[in-house]
Amino acid sequence: MSNTAEIKVGGQSYELPVIEGSEQEQAIDISALRGQSGVITIDPGFKNTGSTTSAITFLDGEKGILRYRGYSIEDLAEKSNFLEVSFLLIYGHLPSNEEYTRFVDSITKHTLVHEDVKKILEGFPSTAHPMGVLSSLVCAQTAFYPESLDPNRSADEVDMSIIRLIAKMPTFAAWSYKNQIGQPVNYPDNKQNYTANFLKMMFANPAEAYEVDPVVANALDKLLILHADHEQNCSTATVRVVGSSHASMYASISAGINALWGPLHGGANQAVIEMLENIKKDGGDTKKWMAKAKDKNDPFRLMGFGHRVYKNFDPRAKIIKKAADDVLEKLGVKDPVLDIAKGLEEEALRDPYFVERKLYPNVDFYSGIIYRALGIPTDMFTVMFAMGRLPGWIAQWKEMRENKEPIGRPRQVYTGANERSYVGMDER
Ligand code: CMC
Repeated sequence: MSNTAEIKVGGQSYELPVIEGSEQEQAIDISALRGQSGVITIDPGFKNTGSTTSAITFLDGEKGILRYRGYSIEDLAEKSNFLEVSFLLIYGHLPSNEEYTRFVDSITKHTLVHEDVKKILEGFPSTAHPMGVLSSLVCAQTAFYPESLDPNRSADEVDMSIIRLIAKMPTFAAWSYKNQIGQPVNYPDNKQNYTANFLKMMFANPAEAYEVDPVVANALDKLLILHADHEQNCSTATVRVVGSSHASMYASISAGINALWGPLHGGANQAVIEMLENIKKDGGDTKKWMAKAKDKNDPFRLMGFGHRVYKNFDPRAKIIKKAADDVLEKLGVKDPVLDIAKGLEEEALRDPYFVERKLYPNVDFYSGIIYRALGIPTDMFTVMFAMGRLPGWIAQWKEMRENKEPIGRPRQVYTGANERSYVGMDER
């Protein structure tokens, strides 16, 4: 392919540069097109639009490849741990022994949150969804660390904000759950590792002893790795766009948490379990629900199926499916909902509707089943996703700032009324 593209508008040709990524993906750079021709391009949902160049995550949806900084997700999930992967995503290389120790030590040192965070938490009714509480507490960090409002600070100062956020995220997440169930919050226990500390804050209560099960902590760590980044998805694009206005990192990531919340994005893991439970309650007739999913007059969709970029298989779903089997076996959990999930998957994989549209199980199809087996309540599932995605959001925000990207400001094609005169109320 030549390294330019030609576009003809109203008989006039314009030559546009084609840029190439390190995996030979090609993109037509249309940034100068409007200046030359007066026309813009339109692409609702950005289905064919790259918003940035990025050196963080590579994804090939046709081949089912996902790599963080060049390392395959399969390798990282098997051999690494969540904090090492966080360092990799944020700083671009695997840490040396010394870098890793320093990173983990500083995170451990900052797990405690300001005591006044409890007052904010107490202001939420127990009906508050933990995702809303989480995004509020993350944004509230701007009040406790007002210096973080300036994203143009030195790299060391930005690093401090990063460490604080990774350190406090499990505390915010666990406290959002405690608020919902009306139990006193637990303070972090720095003798525990990252995931074990989170589990202890979630599940310990003054009435019973709680010992973290290493099977549960390890499975959760793996899930966090699998969710850690996914290039320019809805929430990550949100983080970058909000940050492009020079809003603080905390504000940008709080916005990302809200974007993740929706059922078409991270909220799908909660929606999957709710769907499977509904199917079970309804008698377990998977064929009936498959028919509903295919009926264009029925708004129901098979949650956990389909993906904007994976059109073959979602590599994360493969790893999670295996991890779900392992965890259920190790913990001795028998979950009837898993049988419904397996039945639905089998039917969908041979159904022409799903095959033709390349709709495969995505990461959320099996993650909810593991979360359930680990004892995580359903409306905390998306909070788990947010905890996992945090290093990815941070890395993407940092890259956007370091690349000095311009403010994100799409254009539109106006389809409303043409100019008309105001008519007084009596004359209407
Ligand atoms: N059930 C039934 N039909 C579906 C589904 C589904 N889950 N997903 C897509 N379709 C159909 C859709 O109706 C459309 O059909 P047609 O061409 O006849 O109009 C076709 O497949 C293409 O769908 P689309 O909505 O244009 O595709 P998209 O790329 O805009 O949407 C998606 C991707 C993930 C939003 C969508 O597949 C979906 O809603 N899935 C269910 C929700 C879900 O599991 N989301 C989690 C995504 S993975 C976690 C994450 O990274 O966010």
